[in-house]
Amino acid sequence: MANSSSSSAIQYQPPPMSYGPRHPAPVRSQLPKRIDVADLTPNNLGQLRKLNTVLFPIPYSERFYKDALSPDVASICKLGLFNDIAVGNVCCRFEPVGESSVKVYIMTLGVLAPYRRLGVASALLSHILKVAEPGSKVSLRAPVDPNAPAPKPKKGKDGKEIKEEPKMIEKVVDSIYLHVQTGNEEAKLFYSKFGFHVAGEVDNYYRRIQPSSAWVLEKKVA
Ligand SMILES: CC(C)(COP(=O)(O)OP(=O)(O)OC[C@H]1O[C@@H](n2cnc3c(N)ncnc32)[C@H](O)[C@@H]1OP(=O)(O)O)[C@@H](O)C(=O)NCCC(=O)NCCS
Repeated sequence: MANSSSSSAIQYQPPPMSYGPRHPAPVRSQLPKRIDVADLTPNNLGQLRKLNTVLFPIPYSERFYKDALSPDVASICKLGLFNDIAVGNVCCRFEPVGESSVKVYIMTLGVLAPYRRLGVASALLSHILKVAEPGSKVSLRAPVDPNAPAPKPKKGKDGKEIKEEPKMIEKVVDSIYLHVQTGNEEAKLFYSKFGFHVAGEVDNYYRRIQPSSAWVLEKKVA
């Protein structure tokens, strides 16, 4: 769960700050289940907002939601569906490491409490691990030099301006990491099942919740 620097305009009642032990969902675990990993779109972004409001004790900024729709992160920002109902999400970003590599940073990964222990988070994290599997490359838009002169607009035969495709660069994924509030043992157990280990601890990572410290969980990929 990433710290969020700016607060959203709407103030919601914060969800509980601790995550007590939970048992498998009693009825849903016996129902026929279909778990899907779905794309984020402007039409379902509201569902992502609602989920995060319930799942995490910190508000996420408008910038977070705008960035989640960027084509660059379309493969790593997803909704988790249980029988077609959006019950969870994973939102990541790519962070550059040197010239040719990136890290995947998991900003949010959560599932609504009644739908836990059904494999929804596993489906979401498995999807991220597939995007970042060893040897795979991700294609990102090349950063635009703000001092470079604006390119001359090109025109088609009909005289209309042709929109230039953004320049893409390929990067290798070096590792996947995230922050988890210390004491959130269920998240730690969940991630350890997928090969993540505690790489460090950051004091005062969270400003508005207690404990304010966070574990850094990491999995090397390259
Ligand atoms: C952590 C979390 C995402 C797991 O979601 P989930 O959909 O229940 O996870 P899964 O059903 O895919 O669980 C996979 C495995 O992880 C482990 N696991 C998950 N929750 C666990 C718990 N409460 N206690 C022990 N192990 C747990 C188990 O090994 C489980 O396999 P099993 O059910 O066959 O025993 C969920 O508890 C959650 O949303 N927590 C609140 C938000 C949060 O803390 N996010 C992490 C920081 S971003």
